[in-house]
Amino acid sequence: METSVAGAVVMERIAEPELMDDPQQARVYAEADFAASDGALVERILSLAAPDGLGPRVLDLGCGPGNISFRLAERCPGSELIGLDGAEAMLAIAELRRRSAPQRWPRLSFRCLRLPLAGPDLEGLAASCSALVCNSLLHHLHQPALLWQTLRQLAAPGALVHIHDLRRPDDPAAVDALVERHASGCAPLLRRDYRASLHAAFRVEEVRLQLQQAGLTGLRVEAREDRYLEVSGRLP
Ligand SMILES: C[S@@+](CC[C@H](N)C(=O)[O-])C[C@H]1O[C@@H](n2cnc3c(N)ncnc32)[C@H](O)[C@@H]1O
Repeated sequence: METSVAGAVVMERIAEPELMDDPQQARVYAEADFAASDGALVERILSLAAPDGLGPRVLDLGCGPGNISFRLAERCPGSELIGLDGAEAMLAIAELRRRSAPQRWPRLSFRCLRLPLAGPDLEGLAASCSALVCNSLLHHLHQPALLWQTLRQLAAPGALVHIHDLRRPDDPAAVDALVERHASGCAPLLRRDYRASLHAAFRVEEVRLQLQQAGLTGLRVEAREDRYLEVSGRLP
């Protein structure tokens, strides 16, 4: 199905399940090789944080098996690093990895929490995070406003925000081309999820509207490469 965005006809979003809590799905995701894109994302985050660094408390929202959390924890040993995800299956893998070499990431911890946060979970983190990062969570959310609300709740003054996600292609042929280009050698389950994620992703103009509605117009949204978008900046 198609819809019109800013005068252009584009493929409509099809949401996918929010949590990746099927153990096989989590295992296949964790075993996939995202080293190149994860490494590039971490370098990008660190370059945006320079020269001051990420600050005392960094939150990785929708951390999955911890791909980004571990890399950041290693590069920023002076920061407390918290990975948060609502899927037990993902966090079980992250915890196993962490416990395999706890001395390597002494200030890294994981919490099984689903957005939106409430009660003591929210109180414990509110206004305390000097950096909030997020890779590939936004497209999972049925209500994307939850992410923007969470940033506002948890950010310390001046916090760095960096959101990296897929962006939805114009049409099914463009989805096929991306799956072929980037996932042809992957396990079938991962290819299935990648295709679903491309359909569930937002477009740059949709994210701009979400930010306007959330009162976060200080954040910048940009298309990156052939399939990503990023939202970055500092909160007041
Ligand atoms: C595609 S994975 C990304 C994992 C990780 N950020 C990475 O860089 O590899 C998306 C993750 O978001 C989590 N997620 C989706 N909706 C969520 C919610 N409402 N609250 C917390 N986690 C959520 C899923 O369980 C999944 O682990």
